[in-house]
Amino acid sequence: MENEGRIALSILNSQFSIKPEIPLFLAPLAGYTDQAFRLLCKDCGAEVLVSEMVSADGLTRDSAKTIKYILFDDVERPLGIQIFGNNPHVMAKAAEFLLPYNPDFIDVNMGCPVKKVIRRGAGSALMQTPELAEAIVKEIKRTIGANIPLSVKFRSGMDANNLNYLDFGKRMEASGADFLCLHPRTVKQMFSGKSNWKHIKELKSVISIPLIGNGDILCPEDAQRMMQETNCNGLMIGRGALGKPWLFSQIRQLLTNGSYNPVTKANLLQIILKHIDYALRFKREAVVVKEMRSQLCFYTRGLLGAAELRNKINHIDSLSELITTLNTAFTPF
Ligand SMILES: Cc1cc2nc3c(=O)[nH]c(=O)nc-3n(C[C@H](O)[C@H](O)[C@H](O)COP(=O)(O)O)c2cc1C
Repeated sequence: MENEGRIALSILNSQFSIKPEIPLFLAPLAGYTDQAFRLLCKDCGAEVLVSEMVSADGLTRDSAKTIKYILFDDVERPLGIQIFGNNPHVMAKAAEFLLPYNPDFIDVNMGCPVKKVIRRGAGSALMQTPELAEAIVKEIKRTIGANIPLSVKFRSGMDANNLNYLDFGKRMEASGADFLCLHPRTVKQMFSGKSNWKHIKELKSVISIPLIGNGDILCPEDAQRMMQETNCNGLMIGRGALGKPWLFSQIRQLLTNGSYNPVTKANLLQIILKHIDYALRFKREAVVVKEMRSQLCFYTRGLLGAAELRNKINHIDSLSELITTLNTAFTPF
């Protein structure tokens, strides 16, 4: 069973030179994993990237507005585009729309707990309507064919009394998904409490397709532990990479050599400046300065005088002033 999983995952990697046994995925994070952050994470060792979630309705009705979310550069490969929606026909149409962009896989969001999404019966609401979730996967697979892998990302269930990840995962496999990703929290939990890695281990033992484990990998040791405890086929890192994109290379170092290099304040400054540089490729200066504020909250976490620095950054409107402030804050005396 384990071998089948590895073989199926190698379909995803077959066109690429990177073929680690346990690939490191950057999780989709709406509002954060735009092209700039994805390129940065790729430089920092992320091996598989996923777009932010994109509305299938948006793609099929008003693609001009939505298209910015699906654009990616060849250097980001292998990359998956994640879609959300609740209508099998619309979801399949959206997947078909993506085909000319040639993503390495298409992922279906069945884990988003945000009200705006579940009110429409999409995201994690689909865990309550497994027949509809099955119809979505079947219809997309029928439309995109066997050559492009289809994955499903979901949670443990709606709440502690309704944990259906095992049944749901099996249904997704039987409907044609090529691999799965489990974030083992309930929808009710949102992002609070701890993710329950036992669910990953259990699901892995009842499906034959690869399973990517996700949830609370915040340091390299967490990644090693998830791998050992769950036997999953890949690791997906989300919040742990915010303000710490080098986490990917540290994880790979730990898994390969048993130790990893620490990151210095000077490395941190270089990474932030690179992030800004990437962002300027895609957005206007004023937008970059504004959008970097939320990213800089993460980069400055734990630094001495962080609150004061953040407050200063939040009032800066010009790029040159932002760069000067960062250089001053991060350069040792
Ligand atoms: C700000 C934010 C945005 C997110 N956006 C998405 C999304 O677009 N699609 C998705 O499947 N999950 C999304 N997630 C969930 C993450 O992909 C991931 O499953 C979750 O954060 C647990 O992993 P972590 O502990 O490594 O962050 C988001 C999470 C956060 C915190």
